[in-house]
Amino acid sequence: MCGIVGYVGSRDATPLLVNGLRRLEYRGYDSAGVAIQENGHLEVRRAEGKLDNLVQAIAQKPLTGRSGIGHTRWATHGRPSEQNAHPHVDCGAVTAVIHNGIIENFAELKAPLVSDGHRFSSETDTEVVVHLLEEELKRGRPLEEAALRVLPQLEGAAALAFLSVKDPGKIVAARISNAGGVIVGYGEGENFIASDIPALLEHTRRMTFLDPGEMAVVTATGVSFRRLEDGAQIEKAVQQIQWDAVSAAKAGYKHFMLKEIHEQPRVVSDTLIGRVERTSGRVVFDDDLKLTDAQVRSLQRITLLGCGTAGYAALAGKYLIERLAKIPCDAEIPSEYRYRDPVVTGDHLVVSLTQSGETADTLGAMEEAKKRGARLLTFVNVMGSQASRLADDVIYLHAGPEISVASTKAYTTMLVDLYLFAIYLAQRRGTVSAEEAGQLLAEAFHLPTLIDAVLGEEPKVKALAYRYHQARDFLFLGRGMNYPTALEGAHKLKELSYSHAEGTAAGEMKHGINALIDETLPVIAIALRDSTYKKMRSNIQEVRARAGVVIAVADDDDEEIAEHADAVIRVPHTNELLSPALAVLPLHLFAYHVADRRGNDVDQPRNLAKSVTVE
Ligand code: AGP
Repeated sequence: MCGIVGYVGSRDATPLLVNGLRRLEYRGYDSAGVAIQENGHLEVRRAEGKLDNLVQAIAQKPLTGRSGIGHTRWATHGRPSEQNAHPHVDCGAVTAVIHNGIIENFAELKAPLVSDGHRFSSETDTEVVVHLLEEELKRGRPLEEAALRVLPQLEGAAALAFLSVKDPGKIVAARISNAGGVIVGYGEGENFIASDIPALLEHTRRMTFLDPGEMAVVTATGVSFRRLEDGAQIEKAVQQIQWDAVSAAKAGYKHFMLKEIHEQPRVVSDTLIGRVERTSGRVVFDDDLKLTDAQVRSLQRITLLGCGTAGYAALAGKYLIERLAKIPCDAEIPSEYRYRDPVVTGDHLVVSLTQSGETADTLGAMEEAKKRGARLLTFVNVMGSQASRLADDVIYLHAGPEISVASTKAYTTMLVDLYLFAIYLAQRRGTVSAEEAGQLLAEAFHLPTLIDAVLGEEPKVKALAYRYHQARDFLFLGRGMNYPTALEGAHKLKELSYSHAEGTAAGEMKHGINALIDETLPVIAIALRDSTYKKMRSNIQEVRARAGVVIAVADDDDEEIAEHADAVIRVPHTNELLSPALAVLPLHLFAYHVADRRGNDVDQPRNLAKSVTVE
């Protein structure tokens, strides 16, 4: 949820930390801060609000030094303020801590420290850690030894990093439990830490990912790893990251979200490449998917899990897999699944969908499913993320870095991968003919061109967004494969525009939602020529009969629909199962332009963060 960075080397740390935070700001933007250590002093600058406020604070009172840590915050304990901004320091301003996550037992840990005379200056759960360290460092222990004594006392989910004048030129970083990633990046005579890959790409592509229960001791000349449980030294692999810094930058677009929407023809191509075996025409998922054909044939149930946008992809996955592979599926919300005592039967596959691979609710649900005996498959975008390490099988999304808080290209690649996965299962279970599978795959390979065509409709979508941007409520209707698309359209509009929006299965309207309809309500209806088309047209008529304003998303050759709608957004025709990957594009563009027209911060909507690493 929060972003952490750190640097040790021979360069001035401050600009490097600020740059790193700029790339992590999507993780939280309630406040930001840096701590720099040099010549026996620790200096801290912090500011409430966006990173630019910190930049101003540093400009007014510059600080330099060759080791430092930085933080961008998404508030959990303590309101957003300078006082609650990280880094937090101990009573003597000797040691600084930054933290992503929640320390659940902070109150119990704090009480004895207060009795012993420690002065706390924030309302955060984090500050307790630096006072605990102070006690240990007083005894002359090196920073990592002090950390090894403090960290096991902390309950909850956390990634932390420490810097101390008592042990200069060193950062100690640790990961406790699943939530909150820590990555070490290797340079020449300098090393880095960060919560996420984009913060490091400018400097290195050689990285190591901490697992829960591990600690890194980072100096300019080396990095070593310890296990928190017993302090033992451990070896960790160095991974070569394929993403580059250019693909994690805005590239001339006004917002990351717009850039990411326009990247979709390419990322969908990347998703499709290499996934069909030429000779057999069968879908293959490299060696990340270790399920054997026999295991696929004996699968009895699939549960798909995802939060927010990933949850709508999970629902689309259920429809796809049931339709093609005839395996009973459920789509579930991880925060519910995890605590509702779910039943896992033999030959049960649990599939999680997650862009970041760090969403605490999703990871918690995966752990619960594993405990109950399910096999875990994850569809994940970020390589080396916790989901990829927790799962038995991994399918990477190939969406590239997604920086905007609003997920767009990751959603589309989830849909495409689920479509391929459903065909993969169907081929092995014999529920599709070779001819049908060939046709479905040929249509998938045409998708990048069709996506390009839909993106060409942006001026029209923008004009509609501008026409309706002041509406207080919106309704999104879909049926069948595009019911999840309606949910996703409403979700995106809510998170970006702060308007109320509701997505529903159009058949449900008559059971209550019809009461909302009047002439002030724009209704966006996905009415493609598929098996639900006629029903959908009737639903549109019901809306119009009650004076609602209808914007239809329809096939490009559907002349008739114009008679039933106030405005039509056209998408090229593809098969019904693939159509959500096209129908969602105008909805994402609509949400983007409504929010931009309202002057909202599109990439960093209020109260949200990209990686939700707390429950
Ligand atoms: C999407 O626009 C949202 N910001 C959010 O719903 C997101 O999809 C959700 O938090 C899940 O994230 P994940 O894919 O990284 O697990």
